[in-house]
Amino acid sequence: MLKNQAIAVIGAGHMAGALIGGMVRSKLVRGKSIIAARRSANALIELQKKWGVRTSTDNKKAVALADIIILAVKPQMAKTVMEELAGSVRPGHLVISIMAGVTTAAISKALRVDGPVVRAMPNTPCLVDAGATAIAAGAHADEADLARAEAVFGSVGLVVTLPEPALDAVTGLSGSGPVYLYMVIEAMTDGGVKMGIPRAIAAKLAAQTVFGAAKLVLETGKHPAVLKDEVTTPGGCAITAIHVLESKGLRSVLIDGVEAATKRSQELSRLFAE
Ligand SMILES: NC(=O)c1ccc[n+]([C@@H]2O[C@H](COP(=O)([O-])OP(=O)(O)OC[C@H]3O[C@@H](n4cnc5c(N)ncnc54)[C@H](OP(=O)(O)O)[C@@H]3O)[C@@H](O)[C@H]2O)c1
Repeated sequence: MLKNQAIAVIGAGHMAGALIGGMVRSKLVRGKSIIAARRSANALIELQKKWGVRTSTDNKKAVALADIIILAVKPQMAKTVMEELAGSVRPGHLVISIMAGVTTAAISKALRVDGPVVRAMPNTPCLVDAGATAIAAGAHADEADLARAEAVFGSVGLVVTLPEPALDAVTGLSGSGPVYLYMVIEAMTDGGVKMGIPRAIAAKLAAQTVFGAAKLVLETGKHPAVLKDEVTTPGGCAITAIHVLESKGLRSVLIDGVEAATKRSQELSRLFAE
């Protein structure tokens, strides 16, 4: 789908590096169709060696060579970088942004262009091709633009399309979600250690259990409650634990966490827009 299209990646750091790797490994584009841009020349040499991409420390030069522009600098650098690129981005470019809390309207305004903008909220498991990304079309982006963005993020995991206002909730759910599960894995590990399992083994068992449970949900398509009921023996161990987890509010606390992170994302978006 993206054959013959050049992609400028502005801010080729961790997340963008994962996208570059995904796109090249999946043969979505050839390495030399990507122009990676950031300030550190040494980091660019590494990217060039690893993925065969072209590189530039000059954002405008990178944009001039591209059909698609991926904006991946930190939100606090967004205004500076978009100011620099205003005038270089043309309406024919597709702009894809992964910058948290920066709306498509703010991007169009800062770049002073009325071409298509697609906003995405990926998460860090993109680094291991197991990402969960939501994409949203800005005012001038059509289905074909969304399809190109879907191809980019599809190279590193699952992609869903939602209306832009839902991206704050996505930030609260899958964007921040890996952190909640790291805490779950750590806590389950401690539980195993408390009950006598060596820490390194307990950590492996806990992580693989989270991975395996997620895989079962995704691959069977069964409701998690059905999978839970299937392994809950009457009078057994799992139901005994379920009672404790329910009485301590496990599900409510996770719902509250997603809600709190969503509200914080909404606040940060408003601050950026001011
Ligand atoms: N990490 C996540 O879980 C996650 C999830 C969703 C969205 N995001 C979004 O992804 C974006 C990138 O996050 P990240 O974790 O990948 O950060 P990162 O590793 O710091 O990447 C940002 C890159 O931008 C480069 N940069 C800074 N100033 C620049 C400039 N003036 N021109 C060109 N490049 C510049 C930096 O490299 P130099 O210093 O060499 O220039 C850095 O490598 C953020 O906007 C974040 O909101 C992250």
